[in-house]
Amino acid sequence: MSSTNLPHQSEELERLRALLPGWVKTSKTMCQAGKVASYIPELSKAPADALGIHVIDFSGNSVTAGDCGLSFTMQSISKVFTLLLALIDRGPEIVFDKVGMEPTGDNFNSMLKLELVQPSIPFNPLINAGAIAISSLIGGDGPEEKSERVLRFFRRLAGNPELAYDLDVYRSEALSADLNRSMAYFLKDKGVLKGKVDDVLDVYFRHCSIAVTCSDLSRMALVLANDGTDPLSGEVLIPRRYVQIAKTFMVTCGMYNASGQFAIEVGLPAKSGVAGGILTLVPGRYGIGIVGPSLNPKGNSIAGVHLLETLSQSLDWSLF
Ligand code: DON
Repeated sequence: MSSTNLPHQSEELERLRALLPGWVKTSKTMCQAGKVASYIPELSKAPADALGIHVIDFSGNSVTAGDCGLSFTMQSISKVFTLLLALIDRGPEIVFDKVGMEPTGDNFNSMLKLELVQPSIPFNPLINAGAIAISSLIGGDGPEEKSERVLRFFRRLAGNPELAYDLDVYRSEALSADLNRSMAYFLKDKGVLKGKVDDVLDVYFRHCSIAVTCSDLSRMALVLANDGTDPLSGEVLIPRRYVQIAKTFMVTCGMYNASGQFAIEVGLPAKSGVAGGILTLVPGRYGIGIVGPSLNPKGNSIAGVHLLETLSQSLDWSLF
């Protein structure tokens, strides 16, 4: 993919620069219909009325609007990138022996199908059970080294050597994770998790608590939009086939049990997190990071989804 923008693409970016502030203002009004996540107590401190977006193209030109300075934790968005690291470390055969490839139709933290459907492996790597299984597949000796490798990988993708954990959110999640703990013990019993449950969960809690801004998310998304090669440096960071796998999961499971509706209304690969982030991309064109901590009942940013519907429908971005 060339890093030179086509003329119509830079025109589109200029159009975005003019239109985004108004669209953000309109979507912001949705915030009051949602709720900030509180099951991880530290997350409840986020500003409920915030909404920000950062769009970056293959030449590094960007457009931002709204509350883009806000720092927030990646939460489930990190699952896309731990999946990619596990694929790089272990290869698809080992990874897909431990997690499936299908959407669940259930909530992101549901255990329901683990026992109902045989074999007892999580349905996909983006639900909590699947991401916990993926955490155990990251290469490295022990939780510290695994977490260190995850952080290094994320820093490279974001082009930001300063990415770090939000330790308050990390501790808050570790102290309130009874459901995730029970899932992890269940997976250990079924032979899906190897090693100590607490060690695996530590890797999981840490990658969920990596703090980012919309700009970091848009840079990470840009690498996916260019099939694993950073268009700004030309460096190959992820094999194309693995990016293809990750993007497919983003379309089928990235917005959890709202992924079907999101595919119809927006039509782009995306991944949400309960801190209100959404990472999405227009293949071959843009990386996009959004934050809006007020969530809809499915756990996705209510204003962020509304903003993406406006963008995709106005600019004809749907892949379908
Ligand atoms: O395990 C959890 O519940 C959180 N660390 C992540 C969940 C999440 O982001 C779900 N996304 N919408």
